[in-house]
Amino acid sequence: MGVIDEVKQRLDIVDVVSDYVTLHKSGRNFKALCPFHTEKTPSFFVFPERQSWRCFGSCASGGDIFAFVMKKEGIDFGEALRLLAQRAGVTLAPKGKERAEEGERFYHINEAAALYYHNLLLKAKGAEIARSHLERRGVSAEMVQVFQLGFSPDSWDALLKHLVNGGYGEDELLAAGLVMEREGGGRRDLFRNRLIFPIRNEQGRVVGFGGRALDETLLKYLNSPQTAVFDKSGVLYGLDRAKGAIRGQGLAIIVEGYMDVIAAHQFGMTNVVASMGTSVTPRQIDLIRRLAANLTLALDADAAGDGATLRGLEIARKAFSQRLTSMSDWLGGTSKLRGGLKITLLPRGKDPDEVLRESPEEWQRLVEEALPLADYFFEAVTSRLDLTREEDRALAAERLLPFISEMEDGVERELYLKRLAGLVGVDEKTLQTRAAELRPTKGERAKRVVSLPPSQLLRHPVEEYCLSLLLQHPQLRAIGEQFSAEDFEGTENRELFLAWRDSPDEETLRQILDVNLREHFESLMNRELPPASERELETALVDHLRRLREERLRRLKVVEGVLISEAESEGDKNVIKEQVETLLQSGLEVTAQLKRLFEKEKSEVEWSDELGKERRS
Ligand code: UTP
Ligand code: MN
Repeated sequence: MGVIDEVKQRLDIVDVVSDYVTLHKSGRNFKALCPFHTEKTPSFFVFPERQSWRCFGSCASGGDIFAFVMKKEGIDFGEALRLLAQRAGVTLAPKGKERAEEGERFYHINEAAALYYHNLLLKAKGAEIARSHLERRGVSAEMVQVFQLGFSPDSWDALLKHLVNGGYGEDELLAAGLVMEREGGGRRDLFRNRLIFPIRNEQGRVVGFGGRALDETLLKYLNSPQTAVFDKSGVLYGLDRAKGAIRGQGLAIIVEGYMDVIAAHQFGMTNVVASMGTSVTPRQIDLIRRLAANLTLALDADAAGDGATLRGLEIARKAFSQRLTSMSDWLGGTSKLRGGLKITLLPRGKDPDEVLRESPEEWQRLVEEALPLADYFFEAVTSRLDLTREEDRALAAERLLPFISEMEDGVERELYLKRLAGLVGVDEKTLQTRAAELRPTKGERAKRVVSLPPSQLLRHPVEEYCLSLLLQHPQLRAIGEQFSAEDFEGTENRELFLAWRDSPDEETLRQILDVNLREHFESLMNRELPPASERELETALVDHLRRLREERLRRLKVVEGVLISEAESEGDKNVIKEQVETLLQSGLEVTAQLKRLFEKEKSEVEWSDELGKERRS
């Protein structure tokens, strides 16, 4: 999923707009005084289901979450995306074209460093200590190759010199996190006398490194600092090698360490990746969720039941179930494709690497017997309590109820409430009431970073189809120029259209396009369209322009209905009187204005109808 979609999926427009205006519920929608012009009667509407907004007053504009922030803050698309991405906790590609090239440069530097370390591990005399470490631990030569393991020599500046000789600047190496500022001035290598694990992103580019101490150095692992291309919380070690198997099996297994991943892959379990020590982050879960519906976390037994781990799992569960909800919506809402987040507990004092090398069958068994997260929670909480004691029963309820109450699936919630009732000997009804109280209110749920809108609504298939046609067939430009920016509800499509309109050719378009829209552009550019004659293409484009405008009309109609029924049901005569007065005063009668809008829309639709007929005949 691109960053634009990710932002749209994580932020609720109601929540974002509420930061600027006070929204009032109006049926399924919200209304407010328009933040873009002065008015006394609300004509600004937000539609949660479509994740869009529109002002029916004098500004007569609308769009999605990006369009709102752009207009309200007076900023361009790139800036709005940055602002919202930050709010949604989504990391953007480096800013602008230079930054993207800088990113490219970092990859090259990292690649060069990985190769240098790797060759040293294979050949250098001084690397004996690393080679024997790997040998002792049974890491095969194949795995050394596949994961391009390396060795950083016991030197202050071996890598620095090597890369500077290779044409890289010291400042770049510093920015790439490979060298560091020395206290008395000058620079030195970050990794010294360590076994090196190049960390690759999903696409297989080296983004950073982990270095394991080979002597009694205090810090067992040293990792690259955060750089323009490396953010540990957004990477899973081994994903580039594991993604095929994860997709194929529909299951990913997340372990903690580099060595655990390598051992698993050596034993043929190639759907294993590592979170690199920290508890799993929502972004890491996102990486998996796009590939598979099932995720098993291998947990260290020593930490398994402690508060921090349980909190980490809570976060993981939320990230995972939200993604799943949107996926099943995407599949039509009825899909039973609700995958599972499961936990497998490692034997005390052992990590997957050790389990695997002792007995791959044992590892297999652990994975197969992984517990669904909810069961694991019950287990973790109750195993530390004595449920024959009343206090402990109360404690169990206190700890498990919030967890159950937040389950999105009603059936699941019911099931676990029953189970808890049995465990603590409390009437199920009582627990139910309590759980309902704990259940976050709509507002609170909206405040959370969630994936509210079903993906279907985030997409604008007709818009995208039109753009694909325009981008892939320059000869359609004349028709394309009849579109207006307002025909596109998705800001990414609107922006792409504007850039297309302003560019005489594809090269210019690529140049002027915001870097964050590139992925979207490429996907539309490469979308496969059925083969068609020149004539058929033109007809298709005109037809779809008409569909775009019809859709817009339909949306306007829906709102008109809302406005009318509200005016009718409004009990307070004074309010109506005031509304009418304001309308008269401002000279803007809402329905009349809507009518004008319809008129305008209709003539446009008719126009495109005409054009369609003309072309067809
Ligand atoms: P472990 O301490 O369990 O190490 O940390 P390990 O992977 O089992 O390594 P060996 O078997 O002793 O060689 C698990 C993972 O946590 C991250 C690393 O990714 C490591 O693989 N970690 C750990 C750090 O990033 N920094 C640390 O200081 C420790
Ligand atoms: Mn280990």
